[in-house]
Amino acid sequence: NSGPLVDRFGRSKKKLRLSLTDRCNFRCGYCMPADPVWRPKDEILSLDELTALAELFVERLGIEQIRLTGGEPLLRRDILRLVEALDTLRSKGLRRISLTTNGTLLARYAQSLKQYGIDDVNVSLDSLSPQRFAAMTGGGQIGPVLDGILAARDAGLSIKLNSVVIKGENEDEVVPLTEWAMGENIPLRFIEFMPLDGRGAWRPERVVTEAEILNRIRALHRAALLPRTREPATRYLIDDHYPLGIISTVSNPFCASCDRVRVTAGGELYPCLFSPVCSDLKPCLREGSPTQLEQRIRGAIWQKGRGFSVTSAAVARPISMHGLGG
Ligand code: GTP
Ligand code: 5AD
Ligand code: SF4
Repeated sequence: NSGPLVDRFGRSKKKLRLSLTDRCNFRCGYCMPADPVWRPKDEILSLDELTALAELFVERLGIEQIRLTGGEPLLRRDILRLVEALDTLRSKGLRRISLTTNGTLLARYAQSLKQYGIDDVNVSLDSLSPQRFAAMTGGGQIGPVLDGILAARDAGLSIKLNSVVIKGENEDEVVPLTEWAMGENIPLRFIEFMPLDGRGAWRPERVVTEAEILNRIRALHRAALLPRTREPATRYLIDDHYPLGIISTVSNPFCASCDRVRVTAGGELYPCLFSPVCSDLKPCLREGSPTQLEQRIRGAIWQKGRGFSVTSAAVARPISMHGLGG
């Protein structure tokens, strides 16, 4: 076997989402159980293991973008060394190194992330009100996150904001968040609440759909549909100048064009966010040969299903977002 990484439906995989840790300094209700149990250290891939895995994905499997996720990836003390190692893969076909973060440590890290090779960061921001922000993140402070966002921009990182919208929690922030991000000229994506919260609290009624989000915006602003890209978001041009995205996994899944693979901090490969099964790459990574590892990855991707629907997603998930990396 050689050539690109493809599944049975002909979708080739270009983006790897690599979770660096399941730990987080926030406790967002939509992402993790109330009392999360962190994975033991010996299960977490080391810097060398992560580097070897990334090399294989880029050199032998055609991956072009790597996005580092968590938990909160900036809690990994060796993050800069990892970014430095990934940066050397550009000559092998890696085009983009990205990071998804809650932003709390971003002010401290922005300059060095840029210097070591990160191209872009996505930062979660679900509310502009300090009280509501704290409620949604389990006690998090908004100040450092806003500082982090501006520091990332000043450091020359390209940046996008992510807001998960949940009925009864923050749907009234759709317009304020849009107007704030538009004023700062930072692209924002609203995300429909997905059944990966780890608390079993997801209900279809708690999803604020793309249509509802658009209605709220259109009450005050013009929003014109833009052509679809490979991004998960449907994009709209607001007031003829500002691009806004909506990731509508629940009301309008984009599985047919999915080009992603995800690996947890413990080295389990999930071919889909909603996959009920995973493939443990750790044994191959720790004891096997690169060829065995490659075969295992190709095999797991070949097993990937066609996609997900809300009904199949309503069953209990083996893992929640913090362990999966989003
Ligand atoms: P870029 O396209 O590189 O900007 O990244 P992204 O938007 O995929 O990354 P980010 O980590 O910011 O994720 C934003 C939201 O999109 C999260 O809620 C993810 O769970 C969701 N998402 C990312 N990839 C997929 C996917 O393959 N399928 C689904 N359903 N959702 C995804
Ligand atoms: N539904 C939708 N998005 C979620 N995220 C975390 N959990 C969920 C969920 N249950 C988002 C975070 C982060 C991104 C990686 O995933 O807000 O921005
Ligand atoms: Fe942590 Fe991000 Fe999940 Fe919030 S969304 S708990 S910040 S991983």
